[in-house]
Amino acid sequence: MPDFFTRVQIEGAAAIVRNRSRYQPTIGLVLGSGLNSLADSVENPDIIPYEQIPHWPISTVPGHAGRLILGQLEDKTVMVLQGRAHFYEGYPMSQVTLPVRVMQLLGIQTLILTNAAGGMNENFRPGDLMLIKDHLNLLGLAGENPLRGPNDDMAGPRFPGMTEAYDPELRQLAHESAAGEGFTLQEGIYAFVAGPSYETPAELRFLRLIGADAVGMSTVPSVVVARHAGMRVLGISTITNLALPDPPPGTQISHEEVLETGKMVIPHLTALIRGVLRRL
Ligand code: HPA
Repeated sequence: MPDFFTRVQIEGAAAIVRNRSRYQPTIGLVLGSGLNSLADSVENPDIIPYEQIPHWPISTVPGHAGRLILGQLEDKTVMVLQGRAHFYEGYPMSQVTLPVRVMQLLGIQTLILTNAAGGMNENFRPGDLMLIKDHLNLLGLAGENPLRGPNDDMAGPRFPGMTEAYDPELRQLAHESAAGEGFTLQEGIYAFVAGPSYETPAELRFLRLIGADAVGMSTVPSVVVARHAGMRVLGISTITNLALPDPPPGTQISHEEVLETGKMVIPHLTALIRGVLRRL
């Protein structure tokens, strides 16, 4: 796998999608573990398995499907990534974020991403939904920024700003959507770590000190590329577990716990996203 993709390679992937679908979506959704039901409810879908798109990264994680779905949701034309690949699976950042580059070429202007995250803010409980208002790109700060490498000036600027990376207007729509459904959303800062090991108590203490409200292993590389591409971004974390520096003795976070809590929240998360789509 090359370190970086050329525009021709990304065009090649986008061409496959264009040829295989009747739709010209402007809204993209990246759905993490568990939201298969929402992806499956896209109306009149054109479905493209990831294996059929050149260079597309395929998730190896249980709970992550691997299909691109284009169609209608709440009367909007959407492109849904059912399942995502992560850096910890071994993909280079360029490949983790290739789907966002393809979305850019297809004309996506608004990107909605969901993920599972550990809750670090003491007011958070498992099952809460948190709007991401900012992020800590720990890998990016340390050199694994997805924009490292040659810059395609047609795609975006060499030095893109990252203030208001998470669109204030979209966050407002999300709050309105949740209120309409009778629940509230937390808001907070998402710290992106590589994983796949969960954090040690010392690491969690460090993340708390630098301002993290939640910690997780995805989303941020895609957001950086989406902002480079000029997309508006909404990020929603499901707080699937508490990530506290001083857990009760004998407790370990498990992927099963993450998936289980993720499942419980599906009705709220689905209603939230549908509400946002209706309001767009
Ligand atoms: N840490 C990192 N990533 C996660 C967690 C966590 O506690 N929960 C879900 N994704």
